[in-house]
Amino acid sequence: MQKISKILENARLKAVIFAGADPNPTDISVMEGAEIYRKENCNMIVALGGGSPMDCAKAVGIVAYNGGIINDYEGAGKVTKGIPPLITVNTTAGTASEMTCFSVITDTERRIKMPICDLLITADVAVNDPELMVSMPPDLTAATGMDALTHAVDAYVSTMATPTTDAAAIKAIELVSKYLREAVAHGDNIRARDMMAHAEYLAGVAFNSAFLGYVHSVAHQRGGLYDLPHGVCNAILLPYVEMYNKQVCPERFADIAKAMGEKNRRIEPGRSCK
Ligand SMILES: [Fe+2]
Repeated sequence: MQKISKILENARLKAVIFAGADPNPTDISVMEGAEIYRKENCNMIVALGGGSPMDCAKAVGIVAYNGGIINDYEGAGKVTKGIPPLITVNTTAGTASEMTCFSVITDTERRIKMPICDLLITADVAVNDPELMVSMPPDLTAATGMDALTHAVDAYVSTMATPTTDAAAIKAIELVSKYLREAVAHGDNIRARDMMAHAEYLAGVAFNSAFLGYVHSVAHQRGGLYDLPHGVCNAILLPYVEMYNKQVCPERFADIAKAMGEKNRRIEPGRSCK
């Protein structure tokens, strides 16, 4: 944060710091951020951190440009005026919020997570630098990495999947399988961090168009109710939901097994997922 402030200062740009985006960012944090944005007459946002600060930044931008309260924008396509110019600087390899059109905010009164989906809330510039990810502790690396894996698997078995999203999803699965363990065990391994940054970005490319499935649907609501880490909720639910999905599109799971390094089983050309 200090480094970025210094760069802005040297460019003669005045910055106001809002450090109020908690994990599982709430409607309260968003309204606080939007109030500061208005009061300080800001005209752009730089979001620094993992999925929570980036989701919060998008939501602050929504309220700043469109008015009302963030809860008014729950759902898809309700943001009419866009958001201020947004630069996202990502420090985790998980959510892909730096480049997606989603923001997930906890409604503190209903204790649920509100997904907000709109192409207009996509960042203008997304920075993914593995140097910024080496200081993540092992538990956060594991949780965020499992979020990335879930995005890729959810997108690969989505009924909205296309050959383009398939290519991104399957490569993401391959990279997570190959590098997540190493990134958890040796956080300073820059190659593992770099490959995980590619993996989470590719998973974001996949689910930004193919969307997600039941793992996220259930994980968001457990997370909203009990304030649990998103990636951990996904990791717990992933095997159970996919055991169910597997009945419908076994050939998709054969592809996933292959991407995860499975060599011994014959891959049958199978039925379509659709
Ligand atoms: Fe996620």
